[in-house]
Amino acid sequence: MTSDAPNLKKIVAEKAVDDYVKDGMTVGLGTGSTAEYAIKRVGELVGNGYELKCVATSKRTEDLAQSLGVRIYDVDEVEHIDVTIDGADEVDPQKQLIKGLGGALLREKIVAAASLSEVIIVDSSKIVDKLGVKTPLPVEVIRYGHGKTAYALERQGCKATLRLSGGQPFVTDAGNYIYDCKFESIENPFFLESRIDVVPGVVENGLFLNTTDVVLISHPDGRVTKKD
Ligand code: 5RP
Repeated sequence: MTSDAPNLKKIVAEKAVDDYVKDGMTVGLGTGSTAEYAIKRVGELVGNGYELKCVATSKRTEDLAQSLGVRIYDVDEVEHIDVTIDGADEVDPQKQLIKGLGGALLREKIVAAASLSEVIIVDSSKIVDKLGVKTPLPVEVIRYGHGKTAYALERQGCKATLRLSGGQPFVTDAGNYIYDCKFESIENPFFLESRIDVVPGVVENGLFLNTTDVVLISHPDGRVTKKD
């Protein structure tokens, strides 16, 4: 990226906060490098006197928000969440998503389900015709018998790879492992989700189906378009 190239993550994140976060709201804060710019903008709003109740989708997001003076509430401390702003790894034409390359899919899905509005922020490289063509599908599994769980996942037609961090299995905020499941492409995400969810040991999968209200997309020329 040249120094004068637009920062596509920052542009789309700041627009989402400016357009969707109002004083007095309860706001879900996503996880990832794009969501971090949204969290920083929320920090600025709080610094300017906005009264916001914020719920974090990961420990990493919680730490960043608190370092900016944003008070974090547990998801069970709030009645509902007005709007959540989060990133994604792939977005298809129906606004179905793959999420979880940042490792926070479990909390992200719980927070999305508790949100009146879910705003997804991505740059145009995340837009795909069909889910699974570029990225693997992250699946969070309990540690016990995870090899057997991975074997059962592979029977759905993918290559399941245990996610590592520093040579050791990556451990999620909930203490679980993640298998990154690479399919050639995902023809029917609803059917696949129903197959994955019945595999013993699976805690959550990274398919976010019918959870998104708005997708904001930043383009290389700096424009932001909206899909709702
Ligand atoms: C974390 C996620 C992230 O939203 C997703 O990985 C996108 O991250 P980034 O904005 O860094 O590309 O699902 O679990």
